[in-house]
Parts: sequence; C-alpha cells; structure tokens
Amino acid sequence: MAVLESILLVGGKGTRLRPLTINTPKPMLPVAGVPFTEHQIAIARAAGVTRVVLGTSYRAEVFSDYFGDGSAFGVALDYRVEDEPLGTGGAIRNAAAALTCGPDDPVVVFNGDILTGLDIPAMVRAWVEADADVALYLTRVDDPRAFGLVPTVGDRVTAFLEKPQTPEEIVTDQINAGCYIFRRSVIDEIPTGRPVSVERETFPGLLEAGRTVLGWVDPGYWLDLGTPLAFAQGSADIVTGVVGSPALPGAPGPALVGDGAQVRGECTAGTSVGAGAVVGERSQVRSSVLFDRARIGSDVVVENSIIGAGSSIGDGCVLRGVVVGDGARIGAGNELLDGVRVWPDMVLDDCSVRFSSDQ
Ligand code: GDD
Ligand code: MG
Repeated sequence: MAVLESILLVGGKGTRLRPLTINTPKPMLPVAGVPFTEHQIAIARAAGVTRVVLGTSYRAEVFSDYFGDGSAFGVALDYRVEDEPLGTGGAIRNAAAALTCGPDDPVVVFNGDILTGLDIPAMVRAWVEADADVALYLTRVDDPRAFGLVPTVGDRVTAFLEKPQTPEEIVTDQINAGCYIFRRSVIDEIPTGRPVSVERETFPGLLEAGRTVLGWVDPGYWLDLGTPLAFAQGSADIVTGVVGSPALPGAPGPALVGDGAQVRGECTAGTSVGAGAVVGERSQVRSSVLFDRARIGSDVVVENSIIGAGSSIGDGCVLRGVVVGDGARIGAGNELLDGVRVWPDMVLDDCSVRFSSDQ
C-alpha cells in the first residue's frame, strides 16, 4: 500500500481547557514545545501515514497557517472545514471528500486530543486479517464513565455505550481510545449535511446491522488531553520520554527549555518552558507547561499547571493544578490550588485574592 491516509478530528471547542482555548483550538496548544497536532502528525508519519486530512471547524485557519501543505512536516496535508460543527461522524464524512484511496482501503482516523504509543501498523494488519468494516482501538481505564464503553467477545465489539449515565450501563472498563481504522466505503455510508456522532450513531448502527467491528486492545500508553491536568501530564510524558514523539525538540529529559528562556530555579518532572519565558531564583516548576514569555518570579512553586503566554506569577506564589490565561498577572504570595482558572489579562493583586481549597 503506497499511500496510507489519515483523518484527524480537530474541530472540537476544547471547552474543558478554557480559557486557553478561547483563541486557540485545543490541538494547537503547545505540548512539549510544539502544537499537539504536530506530535500526532509526527507519530502517524512514523507509522507509515503519508497523507493527512484535518477535519476542522473551530478556528480552522490556525491549523492551515501553521501546517500549510504539510511538506515541512513530511506528509501531504489537506483540510476540510465545517461551517457548523458536524460532530465526529459528520466530520469524518466531510473530511473523506479529500481522500484519494479506493473504497476498500483503510483510513486511520484519530481524535485530535489523544496521545498514544499505539502500534498503528499492527492494528491495520489486524483490520486486514479480520476483513473488518471498522477496527476500534480500545484501552482499559479505572473510571470509564467519561468515555465510550466498548465490550467485546473475543476480538469482536458487541456494543458501544457513549458516556454511560447509569451504573447498569457500566459493563466494562474497556473504552474507545479514539483511533479507528475504517474501510473507506464505510465512511461513505455516513449521512451528509447534518451532524452525526460516530459514537452515538455510526458504531451502534454498524453493530445493529451485524457488520464486522473489531476491538483492538492495546495495553500501551494512552491519554486523552482534554482536561488541564491531563494536558500537563501528556506534555510532561513526552518531555521525559515516557511516550515517544518524533516531534519532541531534542532528546527526552527532565525539562524542555525553549529559545531565549532563562531558568534560574529548577524545572523538573517533564516541565516545558516556552520561548523567552523566565523562571526566577529558587523556584520549583514540576510537570507543568509554561507558554512563551511566561514569567515566574522567585521562590515560586508550580505543579501540574498550565501558565499562559506572557502571564506573570509573583514571588512566593504556590500554584498546583491550575490554568492561568495569557497575559494574566498574579501578585506575590498568592496560593492557587486545584482547578482554579485565571482568565486572560486578569490581574490578581498582592493579598487581595487567595484561592485555597482549605479556606
Ligand atoms: N471536525 C470536528 N467537528 N471535530 C470534532 C467535532 C466536530 O463537530 N466534535 C468533536 N470533534 C473532535 C474533537 O476536537 C476531538 O479531537 C475529538 O473529536 C473527540 O472529541 P472530544 O470532545 O475530545 O470527545 P471526548 O473526549 O469527550 O470523547 C471521545 O474521545 C474518547 C477518548 O478520548 C469519544 O470518542 C469517546 O468515545 C472516547 O472514549
Ligand atoms: Mg477528548
């Protein structure tokens, strides 16, 4: 097979990562030094994918401005834009208009926010051997409620229960990990011109019709970067090499430091420091993402957090599990804990605000 094509679903609004996603689509936020989509493209390319169609909707131009025709990234890139979001199935159908492969060829589809060490060629081979209509990449998680539940018998999928609402629906800890191998002609069966959810409509419909839906369980690394904590974790795991990405600038290590950044304190546990950012003396930054030009004062502790571009964190602050929007300013001595989000350009003066879970 000379050309292996892939569709990346990157049209979601990323509401769980607000305010960072107010102006930037979630997949274009910097993870381990480059936009997350760049890691996904590099990982797909290493697995033999040669053409990628980006199914975009929200802020579509941000992708094309950065990736162009893909030649700088080693793949041929095309774009299909939805005027109104068409849902996951509608987006796949819409993007398929840009595919060049034949009706029986495989198409590798990815949710645009999953980080994985999946062996894509092995999954394609299993799809070929089973002569399947679709193969679903599955993984096991402790709490499956936020995902699509996918029970199997042998390697055959028996049901698809998206975001179960009742305890009775929690029939397995095996979930849809957000990557599929579709027979191209199966994509062409998805209705056009209206929103379609692949999880709520297409997969249950295929199962009801008795089509061959293969479950491919891969026990390796998997993470959905949809929440702030997971986003910081995913970035840290690429920086330290827990999961490999050919797009990581340089070799894996305890921290990634961008051009012109000044680190006087300590950045560890996979912290990514953006270009021109500053980390002051005696500060400790762990498993966090500092966007470009973020300024961390002295004696600051930052953990599992995302600090927006050009924001500034005053001396002596403690930030754990928080999101700070671009250009925000946190005065000295503040403590911001689990789940706090500071909106862009917001100013929290010294002593005027002190967020803490135990106060
Ligand atoms: N183009 C386009 N248009 N893309 C979309 C649209 C749309 O209307 N809606 C969602 N997407 C993209 C998102 O950008 C994201 O990359 C992907 O589709 C999945 O959407 P999420 O909003 O991240 O869904 P989720 O994480 O709640 O659930 C999905 O992923 C889980 C695994 O991470 C489902 O596929 C679950 O079944 C699955 O378990
Ligand atoms: Mg997701």
